Amino acid sequence: MDSLDDFAAAKLAALERGGLRRALVVTDRGPLYVERNGRRLLSFSCNDYLNFSQHPEIKAAAVAAIERHGVGSGASRLVTGNHPLYAELEARLARLKGTAASCVFGSGFLANAGIIPALIGPDDLVLLDELAHACLWAGARLARATVLTYRHNDVGHAEDLLRAHRGRHPHALVGTDGVFSMDGDLAPLGELGRLARRHDAWLLSDDAHGIGVVGGGRGSTFAGKEPADVPLQMGTLSKAIGGYGGYLCAARPVVDLMANRARTLIYSTGLPPATIAAAIAALDLIARDPDYAARPLAKARAFTRRAGLPEAQSPIVPIVLGSARTALAASRRLEDEGFLAVAIRPPTVPEGTARLRLAFTAAHPDEAIERLADLVRERVSA
Ligand SMILES: Cc1ncc(COP(=O)(O)O)c(C=O)c1O
Repeated sequence: MDSLDDFAAAKLAALERGGLRRALVVTDRGPLYVERNGRRLLSFSCNDYLNFSQHPEIKAAAVAAIERHGVGSGASRLVTGNHPLYAELEARLARLKGTAASCVFGSGFLANAGIIPALIGPDDLVLLDELAHACLWAGARLARATVLTYRHNDVGHAEDLLRAHRGRHPHALVGTDGVFSMDGDLAPLGELGRLARRHDAWLLSDDAHGIGVVGGGRGSTFAGKEPADVPLQMGTLSKAIGGYGGYLCAARPVVDLMANRARTLIYSTGLPPATIAAAIAALDLIARDPDYAARPLAKARAFTRRAGLPEAQSPIVPIVLGSARTALAASRRLEDEGFLAVAIRPPTVPEGTARLRLAFTAAHPDEAIERLADLVRERVSA
């Protein structure tokens, strides 16, 4: 096995030289603080925007589901893994997103890796925002489609590409994040929806970072004055919803097609019942108290105001620093002050745009946000 070990070691050495080698760090998470490397840090690096991963009501719902249904689902959904909680969650997701139906996948990544190849084939066209999440790219590649990229949020560029290429392909899909995961800005879904309709292309929005926190908790499709025309609304249950799993909200025939054609749904075991029960409880909490869903964005805005940064559009605030080493050094500086802000480096973000990516949650204390903003203004961005 020498060639295999040598191959891996050489790859790692190259990453190390560029400041790009990564390692898994054991992280013991509480509602706000984490323990890493023997230190207790206030985390601004969790996507747990509503702090639901530790919510007592949600934990109780998960425990009750384990007692009633067991820890695993026992098979793929098409065999015997479709336990009764799925139907309830799917009905709630569809209601939240204003669609006729919805379909839950094993994760957000698995959702995009299944949805796109179920709809799009090798003769078809996929148009992606250049900053679209890795799982949209994975889905497009698995579809073996022609994949074209438009400049970030540039609807005019997307239109030029559709004008030039749409005619050569039987079907076309336009894919974008609704809230961009590393930049925190929103896609112009209203304009993209109209553009896609004009060219008979199907708009897929990845709302992983929108559900629960923008558009009154309904997500990025609902963030504008009018709901955008997005026939394929996918997302994840792993961020604001606090647990795990992915979903597609769409028309009934599209959802039914997923159970027949989406390989990541068909050939993978159903989610554990506790995970589904937790998501149902989280959606209940959001429906009961929509004001709570507005808090992470309000906290992010308080931060950007005080730090002198452009106003946050979502709970995600990037501080772009340039090189990987600069971002790592900034992260260490904040860690010395008791804050966790993990450095995000290429290939997660484009070369030369390594950054700190801050994620604000409903429960972050205002004084801590003020202290972090002052530190960022004086010691990180300066
Ligand atoms: C925009 C976006 N889409 C999809 C995913 C994947 O979702 P999941 O973690 O449920 O696989 C993520 C992050 O994990 C994301 O940021």
